[in-house]
Amino acid sequence: MIRPIPQVGDPVLRVAAATIPPEEVGSVEVQTLIDDLIDTMRNANGAGIAANQVGVPLRVCVIGVDRNPRYPYKPHIPLTVLVNPTVTVLGDDSFASNEGCLSVPLRGDLRRWAHVEVAALDRTGAPLVARFDGLSAGTVQHEVDHLEGRLIVDHVEDPTTFSTWENFDRFHKEAFMAHISTVVDRYHP
Ligand code: NI
Repeated sequence: MIRPIPQVGDPVLRVAAATIPPEEVGSVEVQTLIDDLIDTMRNANGAGIAANQVGVPLRVCVIGVDRNPRYPYKPHIPLTVLVNPTVTVLGDDSFASNEGCLSVPLRGDLRRWAHVEVAALDRTGAPLVARFDGLSAGTVQHEVDHLEGRLIVDHVEDPTTFSTWENFDRFHKEAFMAHISTVVDRYHP
């Protein structure tokens, strides 16, 4: 079921989401929440979505990119459910990016760590450890930020880079696409 997505200013987006007890991952409540996160993400063409973004402050998010019209430059990420994820940054490499968010009507420039390892449970409750690089690492950091109550507006160092999607396409997309193709080449060979 597609659920409404709270927008910036809604306190639920600022809550640190509560850890889900492992024995509750298989519950109808959590499994329905996961199904609804997937439906809501796909309906909105998101690259990921966190439970806070459907108004539920539980520590679960989903990510997945498959020829996404909202982010045509993002490499493929298989649909992945992350319950109680923790992110470990690998090394100190980072890259300049520009992100949007289903809960924020603007895009802005920010930096993301280039290599991360995520430890989580999958939707069956089994332990999962996965490495993500480049833009995919950025997507993971974005979603886990949501679970900590953080939004892209907290990361954008230069507020003059904020742009509506329409104006991003009109004024900034060309330069960004040239830049991001070098990022994709570097991290997604
Ligand atoms: Ni977001």
